[in-house]
Amino acid sequence: MDVSAFCIQSRVLIVAGKGGVGKTTMVAALAHMAAGAGLSVLVVELEGRPGVATAFGSDDELGYAGSVLRAAGASSLGDVDFDNLAKVPAGTVQARTITPDDALLEYLADHGLRRISKRLLSSGIVDIVAGAIPGVRDILVLGKVKQIERSGIADLVLVDAPATGHTMTFLSSAGGLLDAARGGPIRSQAADVVQLLSDPARCQVALVTLPEEMPVSEAIEAAYQLEDKVGIALGPVIVNACYPPMPGLATPAEDTLRSAGITLEAELVTSLEAARQFRLTRQELQEEQLQRLAHELPLPQLRVPFLFAASIGPSELDVLSEALATGVKALHDPAGVVP
Ligand SMILES: Nc1ncnc2c1ncn2[C@@H]1O[C@H](COP(=O)(O)OP(=O)(O)OP(=O)(O)O)[C@@H](O)[C@H]1O
Ligand SMILES: [Mg+2]
Repeated sequence: MDVSAFCIQSRVLIVAGKGGVGKTTMVAALAHMAAGAGLSVLVVELEGRPGVATAFGSDDELGYAGSVLRAAGASSLGDVDFDNLAKVPAGTVQARTITPDDALLEYLADHGLRRISKRLLSSGIVDIVAGAIPGVRDILVLGKVKQIERSGIADLVLVDAPATGHTMTFLSSAGGLLDAARGGPIRSQAADVVQLLSDPARCQVALVTLPEEMPVSEAIEAAYQLEDKVGIALGPVIVNACYPPMPGLATPAEDTLRSAGITLEAELVTSLEAARQFRLTRQELQEEQLQRLAHELPLPQLRVPFLFAASIGPSELDVLSEALATGVKALHDPAGVVP
C-alpha cells in the first residue's frame, strides 16, 4: 500500500499500548514517515513529556502552543501560533501538548466565559467537578482533538495515548458520559467525541506491542476491548523492537570460528557460545509470539526492528520510519503479515 494512502485512511490515529512498549517512539516514526510522504502532521501529546521532540533532535518543551519538529524546505523550526489555526505545511511535523485544564480554559473562552475561566481553574472547582463526574477531563481533551480534526489543519493527527489501562478509560469516557448526562454541554461534547471515535474514516487506533508474551497478551485483550467497549476501528498492530534475523546463528560458535580459521581462548569461545544461545532463544520466543499474535488477532502487523542505540534520535528515527514504510508498502499482501 502507498504510504500516503495509508496515512490518510483516518484523519486521527491514536497510538496506544502497554506502558513502555514504544508508543511515543512510534508516534515520532509514524509522523516522520507521513511527513516524508509529503503530508502535514500534527502530533498531540497528552502528558507533557518530551519524548516525541527528543526523537526529532529537538529540545523544545512541548506546550499547548506547540512547536515545529520537522520543517519542510526552507521553513524554520520553532514555536507555532496555534491560535490562528493555520494549516500545517506539507512535509512538516508540528507537535503540541493538550491538557484537560488548557482544553477547559479554551472551551470556556470559546463560550464567552474567558473572564471567569482562569478564576474557576485557580479556585480548584474544576477538580471538584472532575471528581464528581468521572470522564470530564478525558472528554475535554478528546473534544479538543475533535476540534483539531474538524478544523482540517493537518492531513494526519497522531495522538500519543496514555498506557493501555488509562487508554481504555480515556476512550470509553465519552460513551459513559453520553449514557449518564441527559442534556447540556457535557452531553453534546460527549456525543461529538463518540461520533469521532466510532467513525473509521475519522479516527482509528494503532496498537503498539513488543514480540514478548505479556505485551502480546495485553495487546490482544486491548484490541478486543477497544472494539467492543469503544467501537473504535483498529489499524495494523505495530510490533516494536523485533530482533532482526542474524545469519549463522544456527551454527555453534566453535564451528563458526573453526571454519573461519580463528583461534580464541577457551573462555572467549564459551562467552560467544553463551551469546549465541541467548540470541537464538530470544529469536525463537519472538517468532512464537509473532505467530501467536497473528493467530489470535487478525490484524496486519508492521514490524519494527530493535535498535542497538543508547537513545532514539534523528538518525534512529530515519531507520524506524523506513521500517514502518517498508511494512506499509507490503500491506497489500492478503495475509497482511509482513515477512
Ligand atoms: N525500536 C526500538 N529500538 C530501541 N529502543 C527503543 C525502540 N523503541 C523504543 N525504544 C526505547 O524504549 C524506551 C520506551 O519507549 P517509549 O518512550 O517510546 O515508550 P512508551 O510506550 O511511549 O512509554 P510510556 O508508556 O512510558 O509513555 C525509550 O527509551 C525508547 O528510546
Ligand atoms: Mg510515551
